Amino acid sequence: HFLLMTTDQLADVKFRLSEVLPQIAAHLSQRSERGQVAQYIPPLARIDPGKFGMAIVLNDNSVHAIGDAQEAFSIQSISKVFALTLALGKLGDGLWRRVGREPSGDAFNSIVLLEHEKGIPRNPFINAGAIVTSDVLLASHEPRETIGEILRFVQFLAEDSDISIDPFVAQAETATGFGNFALANLLKANGNLQNLPEQVLGVYHHQCSIAMTCRQLAQAGAFLVSEGRNPLNGFQIVAPERARRINALMMTCGHYNGSGDFAYRVGVPAKSGVGGGVLAIVPRIASIAVWSPGLNQHGNSLLGTEALEMLCKEMRWSVF
Ligand code: DON
Repeated sequence: HFLLMTTDQLADVKFRLSEVLPQIAAHLSQRSERGQVAQYIPPLARIDPGKFGMAIVLNDNSVHAIGDAQEAFSIQSISKVFALTLALGKLGDGLWRRVGREPSGDAFNSIVLLEHEKGIPRNPFINAGAIVTSDVLLASHEPRETIGEILRFVQFLAEDSDISIDPFVAQAETATGFGNFALANLLKANGNLQNLPEQVLGVYHHQCSIAMTCRQLAQAGAFLVSEGRNPLNGFQIVAPERARRINALMMTCGHYNGSGDFAYRVGVPAKSGVGGGVLAIVPRIASIAVWSPGLNQHGNSLLGTEALEMLCKEMRWSVF
């Protein structure tokens, strides 16, 4: 495929990765300031902040990994990329009648714009927008069917059935998710939820509780690298245009009110989660998953962002 790398380019990328990845891991392992592990979901608050893993999938399916890349972590908001992909498959552009495509400039869990803007969330990656997306997927099914659909989609993308939902995280999120209930109730009051808030949040909290390794996550995201086609199995997951648009949303909204800073520092589309994971897409070149549980002030991985900044600088990867 002319858009993807040639054999020579691939060989060069692999060689440079073999040098750069150990340098990044060594550099970051000395860091004592590692950010703060998410406190508001009790099982996440117990995760060791010393963890660090990274996996890179190239479009010949080779995986280049370092550190704790084989340890499962809570993907949290990164699940919003997979849920959005499924919801676009169901509604197509009709989804945009219920959720916008603009960065919010507010925190991921903010409620302030929702009343002003008549219950239409700014984008599908803030919590309010992701709750609408979960409602679209729920349609008139039972929550457990929809949760199964999202999980099976992720397993299919990663070609790995050994991916599951952490029931303790899901339970803790439901028990502490009062802000999400407020968002869901306001959405419902504005006529932008078809189902009841507790059913929709059942789906949303479970999708956030999917646990994956860096390796699995990078593989699941690989269809966004190669114009919608999964390099693992050759399936066209979405049309090329849709893959580009999902990447555009990740670029503009994937890090909430830290999205501008992330674009400036790293320069590729990416989605973060409060579990400390980040999925980053270098179109036509690489799918990258990084995990370091300590977060910065915007709820995005502190060292994960730094690792991506170093990697993309050294590899000269940028969409700009
Ligand atoms: O709704 C929540 O609060 C979490 N389940 C997910 C939030 C999240 O990952 C935001 N990310 N940085």
